[in-house]
Amino acid sequence: MSERFYITTPIYYVNAEPHIGHAYSTIVADVLNRFQMLSGTETFFLTGTDEHGDKIVSAAEKFGQSPKEYVDQISQMFRDLWPKLNISYNRFIRTTDPYHQETVRLILSLVKEKGDIYFSEYEGLYCFGCERFYTDRELEDGKCPDHKTEPEVIKESNYFFRMSRYQEWLIDHINGNPDFIRPERYRNEVLSFLSEPLEDLCISRPKSRLTWGITLPFDEDFVTYVWFDALINYVSAIGYPEGSLFEKFWPSAQHVIAKDILKPHGIYWPCMLKSAGIEPYRHLNVHGYWNIRRGKMSKSLGNVVRPLELVDIYGLDAFRYFLLREMVFGLDSEFSEAALVARLNADLANDLGNLVSRSLTMAQKYFKGDLPEPGPSEEADEELKRSALELVDIYEELMKGLTLHKSLMAIWEVIGKVNKYIDTMAPWVLAKSDRERLSTVICHIFESLRIIAGLLWPFMPGSAEKIQDQLSLSKRGKDFTLEDLKAWGRERPVRSITKAPALFPRVEEVKKEKKSNQSAEKGKAPANEGNAKSYGNLPLISYEDFQKLDLRVGTIKAAEAIPGSRKLIKLTVDIGEKRTVVAGLKDHYSEEDLIGIQILLVANLEPVKLMDIESRGMVLAAADRSGLHLLVPDTEAAPGSKVK
Ligand code: MSP
Repeated sequence: MSERFYITTPIYYVNAEPHIGHAYSTIVADVLNRFQMLSGTETFFLTGTDEHGDKIVSAAEKFGQSPKEYVDQISQMFRDLWPKLNISYNRFIRTTDPYHQETVRLILSLVKEKGDIYFSEYEGLYCFGCERFYTDRELEDGKCPDHKTEPEVIKESNYFFRMSRYQEWLIDHINGNPDFIRPERYRNEVLSFLSEPLEDLCISRPKSRLTWGITLPFDEDFVTYVWFDALINYVSAIGYPEGSLFEKFWPSAQHVIAKDILKPHGIYWPCMLKSAGIEPYRHLNVHGYWNIRRGKMSKSLGNVVRPLELVDIYGLDAFRYFLLREMVFGLDSEFSEAALVARLNADLANDLGNLVSRSLTMAQKYFKGDLPEPGPSEEADEELKRSALELVDIYEELMKGLTLHKSLMAIWEVIGKVNKYIDTMAPWVLAKSDRERLSTVICHIFESLRIIAGLLWPFMPGSAEKIQDQLSLSKRGKDFTLEDLKAWGRERPVRSITKAPALFPRVEEVKKEKKSNQSAEKGKAPANEGNAKSYGNLPLISYEDFQKLDLRVGTIKAAEAIPGSRKLIKLTVDIGEKRTVVAGLKDHYSEEDLIGIQILLVANLEPVKLMDIESRGMVLAAADRSGLHLLVPDTEAAPGSKVK
């Protein structure tokens, strides 16, 4: 194992607030980083925000802010989130940081000196969503595979990076280093891409079209293409070219990304590094996508899962555990709150939580909290000890291979064994008949728990440290290296063991509590006091009034822009019958986003004419500072279903 470890997350675009996809990548990087700490390695963990480019400019415009005001605000949202998810990063980089901009200009100069940058006129198909040109081959039915929109033809003069020059070198490098890109499916994907001739990369944008970027060092009239700028963060953050952190950590660099940005990381970035005379990174670790109901999660679809909302309800470690246990690293996963609740109750409350709590109770009850020395071991004790010690090695292998869910499964197998050992040994019987055996059994339970807590620390740092505290151990977290964990029987509790509150309350209880709080609140509401006519300034309506509204579930069958209108979209909605509805959604949703989704419609409004089209209904949406959020049924309902 190398003694140094440098891990990075993607630097996230600041055109949207963080969601569980961003949280997942960052938590994975945190777990890998903490695992290396347990191995006694010196680590450096980088995250940050990507703040240049068209996307950011249009997002800022939407809010009537300057790009700088806007990026400051959203970047801060990411920065504020990470401590709440217990992410222990070392540096947070922003591509608007002056030192980063200088490094980008330096690298551009180096690559230019090398003869790898040339100026040329180019006409190509450009997707504004992706901020890049597409080749015909990459499009699906003539549309961007990601945004499902037709790219626009753009003709302009730009600077190009001679990426094609490095194609053969990159193929050789990937073949010579089979774990350069992992898991294997993504390595194959990159190799398959490289089996066709590689085109050069357009790395500039004329200032006539975009000014929000880093000016090229060799031409004042152009800014740097956002990907060429962003990728360089991985070296600028650690002080390339001369910083001591760069020298120390770059040779061990590993990136964590999702499959959406495989090409820039698997192709552009190694070629850029090679051209600039920098060693390639060590590993590119690529994971799959979190989807919602088999669809993509996106702000425009209004199905974004916000990490802090889940953390508030279920607790941070339940959230971290669920993401890491549920997703097979490299494959896509479906997010569902029901699955989270099931895992929380079964794995955390039942298996782990109960094990800790029954163990503490026994230490209290049979030894007043002061653990005795163990007596001679029997075969069953040795077997438990073997399983717990073997777990450390198995875990190490699985973690190194990025199979995080399997590491957790291996830990849970041993948790199951300890629970079974307790049931078989029946300490409550031994307490009456054989105090020496009882001591041996309790010591084996506590030693196993010590190992379990230590191995859980990268995944659930807060809970692991709580367990270490409850076991009265002298060390916490990273101070228990894997070597320490294997030293069976060496650590003694430093004070008496006491009982402690449940680590993971069952979720039904959390929900009940929430509900009862809500009903307590309701009890205070004026409406329940008999004759109130308003809630604050809101006049009350009668139930009969409410019943006059005919609200229906509708499926959007077609969505078309209305020529001449900046805001309106013409929808064809199926509510059992076809309705034409004109809705002011264009600022927030693209036509493509809307087709196929279900919405709620006020179906009995008088028709109105908008832009010469008769609109027969109104779509319901919530409005806040970030824009409009369509109200949608949480699972698919028959078109025309009545909302009650
Ligand atoms: N700014 C670029 C990255 C530049 S890195 C030099 C970017 N930003 S992003 O905000 O769009 O973040 C993309 C990354 O966020 C993905 O690669 C992944 O790490 C994470 N995720 C965003 N949505 C995701 C899911 N639905 N599921 C899993 N992770 C995803 O691309």
